[in-house]
Amino acid sequence: MTKHPPEPFRIKVVEPIRLISHEQRVAAIQEAGYNVFSLKAEDIFIDLLTDSGTGAMSQRQWAGMMDGDESYAGAKSYYRLKKSVEDIFGFEHFVPAHQGRAAENILAAVMVKPGNQVPSNMHFDTTDANIRARGGRPVNLVIEEAFDPANLHPFKGNMDLLKLKAFIDETGRENIPLGMITVTNNAGGGQPVSMENIRSVAEIYHSYGIPFFIDAARYAENAFFIKLREPGYADKTPLEIAREMFSYADGFCMSAKKDAIVNIGGLLGVNDAALFQNISNELILREGFVSYGGLAGRDLDAIAIGLYEGLDEDYLSYRLGQTAYLAGLLRENGIGMIEPPGGHAIYVDAGAMLPQIPQAEFPGQSLVVEMYLEGGIRAVEIGSVMFAQPDPLTGEVVYPRLELVRLAIPRRVYTQSHMDYIAETLVKISKRADKLRGYKFTYAPELLRHFTARFQPL
Ligand code: F0G
Repeated sequence: MTKHPPEPFRIKVVEPIRLISHEQRVAAIQEAGYNVFSLKAEDIFIDLLTDSGTGAMSQRQWAGMMDGDESYAGAKSYYRLKKSVEDIFGFEHFVPAHQGRAAENILAAVMVKPGNQVPSNMHFDTTDANIRARGGRPVNLVIEEAFDPANLHPFKGNMDLLKLKAFIDETGRENIPLGMITVTNNAGGGQPVSMENIRSVAEIYHSYGIPFFIDAARYAENAFFIKLREPGYADKTPLEIAREMFSYADGFCMSAKKDAIVNIGGLLGVNDAALFQNISNELILREGFVSYGGLAGRDLDAIAIGLYEGLDEDYLSYRLGQTAYLAGLLRENGIGMIEPPGGHAIYVDAGAMLPQIPQAEFPGQSLVVEMYLEGGIRAVEIGSVMFAQPDPLTGEVVYPRLELVRLAIPRRVYTQSHMDYIAETLVKISKRADKLRGYKFTYAPELLRHFTARFQPL
């Protein structure tokens, strides 16, 4: 297995982690109702729950935080962020928000009316829920290849253009207040979207007069995949590629907790001045004044700097290389996953690993619990716990097409020996996978249930 490019940084501050005993792990997961969201972080050895807000900031970002201007309105920090946002994304107006879902909430509040439908390649769960919370319906129109874990299509996050056109014709432009695309496609395996696809999606939306928004959480990783895989982009910088991606859109919403490598923050940008007025009013009601949007001035500085660090080529080579390295170790040991691996995470095919557990008994949840018990590793289920929903018309439960477990890799946090340990743990589990059993809910709320549900082993 070729190793990934060495980390383009050295470690100046360390945070101890420890593996508690197996007995203690058994007690901890029981107490957590077999939901890893309810574990204490100190009881976890390697935390792959998310790559969101878990990255290590650089010395420049920490220095930037000391520069933070905490003025209520018009802070210097806001203007520094504005400069970065305009330079990279190019939208005429933007606001900070406290995180991605806050930006989505504002967007849905001002654009989505009951009965509306919002297409995307695949909405992330919070986007999905924010559209539903306004009475709208999120619709996923990703290409078919996305559902075949073995298919090596280089841009499995692409929108199916024929499906998109058919959907708009069927639904009627008047029922579609905005159209979206998520880069990279987190819910579908962290898969990138090609520039060609972004351009075509924009053309289709615009031919119907539908505003086009990009969910930009992992814009830098997407830009680097375009550089690596799409003809014509090898000689462009990730920054140039990002600029082109956003030049096709009318707006974006973004969690800054991913590719801006900060612990908290979000962004929402648009070109339309009237829409921006509504966004500002809603933001002031929900988040805070337009020049801070629910964040401290120092947070804005960390984002302003992190937006560029996320686009650094040495960083991106190491980042995507580290993910590919872990994928290689699993592949060598016959563990199935979404191929090719995305940028921020490995999506293990739990459905394939645990064929004896039916979807209604949550194979992904079973693997997640086992990873904690075996190695003190926290991963996250992305399958029926997260997505199975009763059909609004028939009431029958609709299951997702894949039962996945995501190993999300925090940015600049774990080393290659951590990757080796993760792979060893999964290999041990895979050797006795036929012994694993399913789970059932003992409690589940209606929206975003995976966060607070409780389970019982079957
Ligand atoms: N959009 C995408 C594509 C995301 O992955 C996320 C968050 C959000 C929006 C919402 O952003 O958390 O800042 O409110 N994803 C995290 C994850 C939670 O673990 O993948 P947020």
